Amino acid sequence: MGFASKGFQLRPARSDDFRFAWSLYEELMRQLTIELLGRWNDPGQKQVVELAVTHPGTSIVVKDELDAGWLHVVESPDAIYLGQLYLAPSFQNRGIGTAILRELTDRARRGSKTLTLDVMKNNRSRMLYERLGFHVIGQSEYKLKMQWQETSPSEAMFEHGDSSFISIQSQRLVLRRFTERDLPTFVGYRSCPEVALYQSWGNYTINDARTFLKEMNEIHPAMPGKWFQFAVEHKEKGQHIGDCALMIEAGDPEQARIGYTVAPQYQSQGFATEAVGRLLGYVFGTLEKHRVIATLDVLNRSSVRVVEKLGMRREGHFIESAFFKGRWCDEYMHAILRREWKMGRI
Ligand SMILES: CC(C)(COP(=O)(O)OP(=O)(O)OC[C@H]1O[C@@H](n2cnc3c(N)ncnc32)[C@H](O)[C@@H]1OP(=O)(O)O)[C@@H](O)C(=O)NCCC(=O)NCCS
Repeated sequence: MGFASKGFQLRPARSDDFRFAWSLYEELMRQLTIELLGRWNDPGQKQVVELAVTHPGTSIVVKDELDAGWLHVVESPDAIYLGQLYLAPSFQNRGIGTAILRELTDRARRGSKTLTLDVMKNNRSRMLYERLGFHVIGQSEYKLKMQWQETSPSEAMFEHGDSSFISIQSQRLVLRRFTERDLPTFVGYRSCPEVALYQSWGNYTINDARTFLKEMNEIHPAMPGKWFQFAVEHKEKGQHIGDCALMIEAGDPEQARIGYTVAPQYQSQGFATEAVGRLLGYVFGTLEKHRVIATLDVLNRSSVRVVEKLGMRREGHFIESAFFKGRWCDEYMHAILRREWKMGRI
């Protein structure tokens, strides 16, 4: 790669670069790893760096005759994988990382190759990757897999959903991704007969919940055609109390559908109204959608109350439109437009 014009060069790594590569890796990754995994496996991590420095795809970044960082790239005829990229703190924020990534994106474009990388979930460098056109395409427990795609941010949001979503907050609540820790409460309220009364599920088991969590981990909010469920957490209690769901219509991605559930002991305290109100703010404010729809069983009085408190208009009363738990039920359809939400700022 020719970076001389930008004031730095890359040279192939040699085995005697291990000491430099390891100390930089440890300096940058130890804290993040402990934060996320709760442990740091010194011999295992050393082995990773040892293998990398002896690999022909590894280069040392040299700036002003000093070793400034290192990277590991694996390239095949149809793919480029950025395995590692580390810059010493004193060389960060000087455009070096961006120049390296741009060189890789140019190379991927010229060769019609895919370009992917993995990043730890708590690593802020993900923001740089996102700025340069990388999108999350999958995840494991601790890492996100990102792929570069030459699309504008709004096109990417449209196609892949909001891959940068972490959480949104209201006065008393946080709406965030589900985690393993939420599953007992989730199963608890989903298997409660009065909560399930107007919902599609019946007996809900821990295995159902695990399958659900796996599905949620594979998607992002606002992926057209996919229901994304947000866990609703009571901020002060740090307690998971319910969920909100969002689906962008696959055939008409300017429109969205919502759903919501609150655990029995937290009902009638305004939590659904607050959570769904915040969700509408996200859908109209962040995602800039045109219209949000909710479909409810007409007998579900508290749910009807929630959408009416939020200013959603009843646009339809469908007669025996759904066969549900052994009976034909009537449904209301409520909706609100972005411009109405903007006027009311619910
Ligand atoms: C619907 C649901 C999410 C509401 O949650 P919540 O946190 O209790 O909602 P809120 O406290 O924000 O508002 C509930 C409103 O309904 C009212 N309400 C409660 N039970 C009622 C009833 N039987 N008849 C009429 N109104 C009722 C409450 O008084 C409150 O209105 P208010 O603020 O004017 O007093 C919750 O009952 C639930 O999880 N139900 C099971 C799942 C479900 O049916 N979800 C909706 C699918 S469309």
